[in-house]
Amino acid sequence: MTAPFAYDRVGKIYDTLTFPAEWFVSKHRKEILLFSKGLILEVGFGTGNSIKNYPPNSQVVAIEVSRGMLKRATFKLKENKRDFELILADISYLPFRDDSFDTLFSSLVMCTASDPISKLQEMRRISKNEGKLLMIEHVKSKNKVLGYWMDKANPLVAPLDNINRETVESLKKAGWRIEQDKNLAYDIFKAIVAKNSQQN
Ligand SMILES: C[S@@+](CC[C@H](N)C(=O)[O-])C[C@H]1O[C@@H](n2cnc3c(N)ncnc32)[C@H](O)[C@@H]1O
Repeated sequence: MTAPFAYDRVGKIYDTLTFPAEWFVSKHRKEILLFSKGLILEVGFGTGNSIKNYPPNSQVVAIEVSRGMLKRATFKLKENKRDFELILADISYLPFRDDSFDTLFSSLVMCTASDPISKLQEMRRISKNEGKLLMIEHVKSKNKVLGYWMDKANPLVAPLDNINRETVESLKKAGWRIEQDKNLAYDIFKAIVAKNSQQN
């Protein structure tokens, strides 16, 4: 089963499922989104849990690949009276010109998306030179024992989630420059800031 199809099936119950973790994620989304500026693209918008975390007057375009999640997000945007532009799209083929956005944002997306390096390259394409990518993501631990078990347990949670992603390394391979790699919970939950410096 692919991630979009899996998320179509959980769209209605996603908020209930993630409710226990949402207070933690929400706090850190809010903090990192203070770095956002200009035109913002959020990828993997889900049911729109981040809506409440953006500073007022943020100019946001959001994309999501699952129709089930998008439906719930459309409802939440109306409920919160926010006028984000919401588009059904895949991160692999972003429907935007090169150098379009000042800030990109993702939370808990790189753990679900397949082929993360090519997706991060596509995100870099539409980021302006010197643009920033802000992320709240969970990754594989560098602790050898824990990392080993995260690899072993991964098939139990895929494709809804992958607990063994090496997102910081993938960002570097995709050409992003890491400005912040902050551990939020052990070295598994991270707040990452990366920069698109095209002269790299
Ligand atoms: C774990 S949910 C996180 C949702 C939201 N960002 C949040 O913090 O609650 C991951 C989301 O990423 C979306 N996603 C996965 N692969 C994607 C892709 N290739 N393009 C766009 N969205 C994708 C899924 O459909 C799902 O809604």
